[in-house]
Amino acid sequence: MINPARSDALVLFGVTGDLAHKKIFPALYAMAKRGSLRVPVIGVASSALRTAQLHARVGQSLRQAGGIDDRPAYTRLLSHLAYVSADYNDAGAFAQIRQALGKARRPAFYLAIPPALFSTVILGLGAAGLAKNARIIVEKPFGRDLASARELNRIAKSTFAEDSIFRIDHYLGKEAIMNILYFRFANSFLEPIFNRNCVASVQVTLCENFGVEGRGKFYESAGALRDVIVNHLFQIVALLAMEAPAYRGYGAVQSEKAKVFQAMRPLRPDDLVRGQYNGYLREPGVAQDSDVETFCALKLLIDSWRWEGVPWYLRSGKFLAQTACEVLVELKAPPQRLFADSAPAHGRTNYLRFRLAPGSAVALAARVKRAGREFVGEQRELYLCEDQAGEVSPYERLLGDAMAGDGALFTREDAVEAAWAAVDPVLENHAAVRPYRRGSWGPNQADALIAADGSWHNPMPERSCA
Ligand code: BG6
Repeated sequence: MINPARSDALVLFGVTGDLAHKKIFPALYAMAKRGSLRVPVIGVASSALRTAQLHARVGQSLRQAGGIDDRPAYTRLLSHLAYVSADYNDAGAFAQIRQALGKARRPAFYLAIPPALFSTVILGLGAAGLAKNARIIVEKPFGRDLASARELNRIAKSTFAEDSIFRIDHYLGKEAIMNILYFRFANSFLEPIFNRNCVASVQVTLCENFGVEGRGKFYESAGALRDVIVNHLFQIVALLAMEAPAYRGYGAVQSEKAKVFQAMRPLRPDDLVRGQYNGYLREPGVAQDSDVETFCALKLLIDSWRWEGVPWYLRSGKFLAQTACEVLVELKAPPQRLFADSAPAHGRTNYLRFRLAPGSAVALAARVKRAGREFVGEQRELYLCEDQAGEVSPYERLLGDAMAGDGALFTREDAVEAAWAAVDPVLENHAAVRPYRRGSWGPNQADALIAADGSWHNPMPERSCA
């Protein structure tokens, strides 16, 4: 049963880390501005920091994230913040946390720490008696393969109730991604064509025009497949591929998504192209002979009634030509070639395009006749753009939801394990990384991967909504 009582404290493990700096402090500040941050926030990390130094870090983070435009909210945020310096392997650390929690009885523990430490901290919390009535928020990647995800689930569930475990994938907190679910099931026109009868292929691209940005050490333990594909991209695939939920409510959505992961055909080494940008080996924290991929493209099949035989192409990489996230659902050409150009030899057939970042839009491309004697035309996009002004950041949304005990936008144990099961066979067994030029679209071998079904759709800067 969902425990609706709000958490009365937030304990942030990894408060000096990159995630806290880039995403969590700005989310807490946004909550303070909105008036929804009303509980103590206890930052925990191993460095010996004074509270004033932590405050300085928060200020730095907010300035980098866009500035401090509400001094009272900033002051409120700082007044809620305390710091505990702790070695997670030391039971004394958890006693200190208990002391810092004071009268709080229902804390939320947020693990924004290297995945290798998740179990240690969860077990430490349990042993110190801190798990009672508490919630645990676990960052991705949840495990590093199927076996470790199972083990982590086992440990988490031995300490916390399933409805108190919040497995974060911040993509689920993005408006444009929630819109996939809404757009598919709030409209009826899509359903008759959204299946193997009309869809030729689906592509999902998450590209970034920057590198690992000081996260070399983390990246060495992850790589693109673990960092974004098995979670962010797979979540997008699940929302696109799932059946309609049986009832209103997120339990039903989660069940349908889990079925998609279960229906994914386990990958084989040939389904995958891994790349590494030139210069990665010189990044701090990276091994000189590293074979970790900063780019990954793969071909996925979903063995379900709806999607049998439709290839799904997924691709993500650092230092690519653009920063964007986009889905292209390519439709089959008309069965009869009534016009010279109704099934063009080059270029795309009709498609549906979901722009997921930056911005949020859905485009439907169809051919229309050009004026003149000939029956020839061109493909144009019907363009539905949603201006996301005032969008709550995913981290603000998800932190607030977790602290309120609302698990709708988090991932469930069975789904996480089924997703790992699909990639497990290629985590270690794969061809070596292929080098690629920074600012390109990745290694050429990725083009060969998709060649039988066309070519990659490279997202471009989006037009504005206006
Ligand atoms: C994170 C990954 O989960 O997602 C990063 O660890 C990646 O490597 C980031 O850059 C992308 O998130 P967003 O919200 O900026 O698209």
